[in-house]
Amino acid sequence: METLKELKEMVALVTGGGSGIGRAVALALAREGVRVAVADLQAEKAIQVAEEAKGMGVEALALPMDVRQGASVARGVEEALGAFGKLDILVCAAGTDRIAPFLETDEALWDELIAVNYKGVLHACKAVLPHMVAQGGGTIVNLASDAGRVGSSGEAVYSGTKGAVIAFTKALAREVARYGIRVNAVAPGPTDTPLLHRLRQGHEGLFEAMVRATPMRRLAQPEEVAEAVVFLASPRASFITGQVLSVSGGLTMC
Ligand SMILES: NC(=O)c1ccc[n+]([C@@H]2O[C@H](COP(=O)([O-])OP(=O)(O)OC[C@H]3O[C@@H](n4cnc5c(N)ncnc54)[C@H](O)[C@@H]3O)[C@@H](O)[C@H]2O)c1
Repeated sequence: METLKELKEMVALVTGGGSGIGRAVALALAREGVRVAVADLQAEKAIQVAEEAKGMGVEALALPMDVRQGASVARGVEEALGAFGKLDILVCAAGTDRIAPFLETDEALWDELIAVNYKGVLHACKAVLPHMVAQGGGTIVNLASDAGRVGSSGEAVYSGTKGAVIAFTKALAREVARYGIRVNAVAPGPTDTPLLHRLRQGHEGLFEAMVRATPMRRLAQPEEVAEAVVFLASPRASFITGQVLSVSGGLTMC
């Protein structure tokens, strides 16, 4: 496949880059010649993905990072800047979920979902944006979810965090457009990742129903989601900002 010439020599940081969609994004960017910083709570997985990226002929860096902690994110961003000298692309893919009816959830779970899925995005954007502003441009792609557009049973609080990511993406896009920075979101439907396999245990019926409700009648592959992220991050999307692109086989059309 031909690579996107415009992406070559760029530098990306991918949170949650050690697994699933984040891993697929890091490797898809590496395939385009982008130098990648792979940030993840699971340091050994980040190292594995960084090694895979290096195998594609690009420089890559593994960053142990907890997106719940502002200081951890700031440290990782500084390390990436020290290694690569700049940051053109931020992809926020770190995320977590648990299936339970809202009435069976407790505040500890709400706090965890908000800390990882929403505040994690805030920490990453806060740490990266000053550098993008100073360099006169950059792009951010946040992983939302179709759950954040239309809601999803058993994922009420998760849906709320993803709705927050969508609203934040749009508001931030308005604020930073003047600096040449674009901010968009990709909203996957059910995607074949380790997270989904964990969630599916004991809830097989729910996931079968989601696939039945999907016009294309299957799960997304993480690589299919990554294609949309790479497009939005690339200069080919140069006039696209504040948008949410669903990659869900038609599950939601809004
Ligand atoms: N898989 C799906 O069906 C699906 C659907 C819609 C949206 N999403 C979203 O896509 C993103 C990626 O999900 P995935 O399915 O690839 O999951 P995954 O579990 O395979 O990967 C998520 C990665 O995030 C990392 N992570 C979790 N908490 C972290 C923290 N505090 N700090 C740093 N890293 C942390 C994990 O270690 C893991 O490597 C998430 O935001 C998720 O909500 C997934």
